[in-house]
Parts: sequence; structure tokens; C-alpha cells
Amino acid sequence: MNTDPTSPAQPFEIFLVAAPGLEPVLCAEASDRGFTNPTMVKGGVTVTGGWPEVWRANLELRGATRVLARIASFRALHLAQLDKRARRVPWAEILRADVPVRVEASCKASRIYHAGAAAQRIERAIAEELGAPIVKAAPKKTGKPADKDAPEEDTRAVQIKARIDDDLCTISVDSSGESLHKRGHKEAVNKAPMRETLAALFLRQCGYDGREPVPVVDPMCGSGTFVIEAAEIAAGLKPGRSRSFAFEQLANFDPARWQSLRGSTGTVTPPPVRFYGSDRDAGAITMSRANAERAGVGAWTDFAHHAISDLTPPEGPPGLVIVNPPYGARIGEGKSLIPLYHAMGQTLKTRFAGWRVGIITNEAALAKATELPFQEGGVSVSNGGIRVTLYQTGVLG
Ligand SMILES: C[S@@+](CC[C@H](N)C(=O)[O-])C[C@H]1O[C@@H](n2cnc3c(N)ncnc32)[C@H](O)[C@@H]1O
Repeated sequence: MNTDPTSPAQPFEIFLVAAPGLEPVLCAEASDRGFTNPTMVKGGVTVTGGWPEVWRANLELRGATRVLARIASFRALHLAQLDKRARRVPWAEILRADVPVRVEASCKASRIYHAGAAAQRIERAIAEELGAPIVKAAPKKTGKPADKDAPEEDTRAVQIKARIDDDLCTISVDSSGESLHKRGHKEAVNKAPMRETLAALFLRQCGYDGREPVPVVDPMCGSGTFVIEAAEIAAGLKPGRSRSFAFEQLANFDPARWQSLRGSTGTVTPPPVRFYGSDRDAGAITMSRANAERAGVGAWTDFAHHAISDLTPPEGPPGLVIVNPPYGARIGEGKSLIPLYHAMGQTLKTRFAGWRVGIITNEAALAKATELPFQEGGVSVSNGGIRVTLYQTGVLG
């Protein structure tokens, strides 16, 4: 990693943010995609590379929530030192004077303990050394009526993250902007959609990495997330192909090189199998079809309106059933769902011999109600604030 802020030499450390608990799965994906030195750390995976790798990580990795480029790292024992060293970061090589910047700081086990004061020193260094406009982070929305008057985040602003840990200040640029689960295709979502990044990591955890595409069935597909992700993986479509990224606003962005990276990696192979979603809610099926069309996978996906009790396996080879059934917001609230889980388990056990099953839910009692032979060891992960676990079976007998 580049530890001298006066020298922006490449390669530097690139931090891939992962949903806590799924770091090993993202690490395997980064390794499969040929990133250098993938190393698992708490909350993510580090790889090394230069800006083209930062772009490629945003374009190709399905499981990363965002990609941070660690542009500088130096010791800072007090605010005056932070001020001085932050001014020596070659801001003009990375940021543009006409693009607003937002700075967020955190302090842990350090002599500098006031995150607000630390952020202010870095903001001032950027404003005075480069002249870029500084915007303040909008306060977190609480859902209270007064919030409707709260300022909206400036989504054009580039985010700088400073982390001071054990007196070492690491400065990163958020190269992604909007969270990477927003692939740019989904306009319609139902009540509790699975984030695409999580869906992709759960599919990979179930052994589905696109190397040997098998049919994938989601019998409670909602907005179609698992089905669409699985079809994209099988077709070799890059998850970031349709969206924009914060790195396009940086001083070092090279549009021609980006175009060639985006174009050259987009070989679409029609998958040899199909991907199936169903739901008892007719609106969910309309939504899923529209989302699949926008994602360019409409030709390889089938969505049908029926309840799980009417589910039968599609013709052809067995594959993977992956499903995220309804669950209660809090532990214990899901009791009324036990009959639904039980019936789902019976349907899968009696009709899906030869298939593997992955169920994502938030209560062990609900998983147990299916009476499916789950393997040990699912990790619990936060999906929109609710902790969920993937329960997986081997091949059903
Ligand atoms: C948590 S949501 C799934 C979200 C989905 N994974 C997504 O990313 O949008 C649960 C879905 O199960 C469906 N559902 C509930 N009971 C069902 C049943 N008996 N048969 C089929 N679908 C059902 C609901 O309509 C809802 O769309």
C-alpha cells in the first residue's frame, strides 16, 4: 500500500466492502475474478491494484457492497499533524475542483478522538489545497414527519472516508457512489426485496458461481432478485454494466479506457438452462418480468403466478431451489408462518428429489418447520436491518 501521501504510486490497497459474515464468499469471488492478493478482513476483502482494478471491481464483482480506494495513509497524533499531513495528499490528482466532496471520519483507539474535528481538518485541506466545494453529510433519516424537511444528500458528491485507528489515518475514496446492490435495472420492488449483492453471495454460497449453470427456481420470487442474478451469472453479464459510478467524477477517470473495459468484458453467452420464479402475488410476477426484461435476461427466465403448493420442478436437469420466504421482523413474530414453512418443506421433499435447497430466513424455528435436512453452519447476515441466515441442504434424496 502507498504509505507516502506525497506519492500516489500504484498499486494501492482496494477495500471491497462485504456484508459482515459473508467476507469469505466475497474473497472467493475476488479470487475467481483474478484480483491480486485477495485477503479477508473484518467487514470486507482487500485486494491490490491501481485505478483500472478499482473500475473493474465495481463493474464485475457481484458481492461487493462498495469499493474503496485507499489513497493515503499516515500517522496523525494530533489535529495539527492531521491538518498538515492531509494537505500533502495529492488531492488534485484524484479529485476535481468542480465536483463536491463529502468527508466522513471515524476514530478508534487514537489520540485524535473527535471524528467531527478530524473530518473538518480534512475538509479544510481539500477546500484550501484544491478548491473543491465541501458538502455536509445529511443527517440520517429517522422516518419522523419532521424529516421531510431535512436536506437531501447531494448524490453527485464524492465521498472521502478517513479512518483513524491506533493513530494511523487511512484516507479512502468511495469509488462506487450508490451502493452496488443497485444494478440499475430494477425499477419495481416489492415489500422485502433481497439486496442483489446479498442474493449473489447466497447463490455463490450454495455453490452457484456460473461455472456449471444449473436451473435455479425461486418459488417466492417477489421482485425476481435471485432468478435475475442467477440468469445474469450464467450469461456472463457484468453486474455494473448499466449504471454509473462515483469514479467517473474523479480527476483520473479515463473515459476511453473505461469504455474499452466495459465493452471488452461483456461477452454474453445464452445459458444452456433456464431460470424460474413464481409467487402467489400477481403483482410480484408482473414486477419480476419487467425487471428481468430491463436486465436483459427476459429470454432465459420464466415467471409464473401460483402458490408454492402448486410448484413442480421444471423439465430437464435438477438444480437449485433458493427461496427467501416471508419472515417476521422480530424473533418470535414468525410463529404464524410455521404452517407455510412446513408446507413448503413437504412440497420440496416430495417433488424435488435430486435438487439442492437454500432457504434464507431469520428464525431457526421457521427453518426447522420445513423438516428439510439442513447442513450445519449457516452464518447470520443483516438484510435491511434484519438478521437472516442461509440454511442449505445437500442433494435431496
Ligand atoms: C420476502 S419476499 C421475497 C423477496 C424476494 N426474494 C425479492 O428479492 O424480491 C416473500 C415473497 O413470498 C411470497 N409468498 C408468500 N406466501 C407464498 C405462498 N404460499 N406461495 C408463493 N409465494 C408466497 C410473497 O408474495 C412475497 O413476494
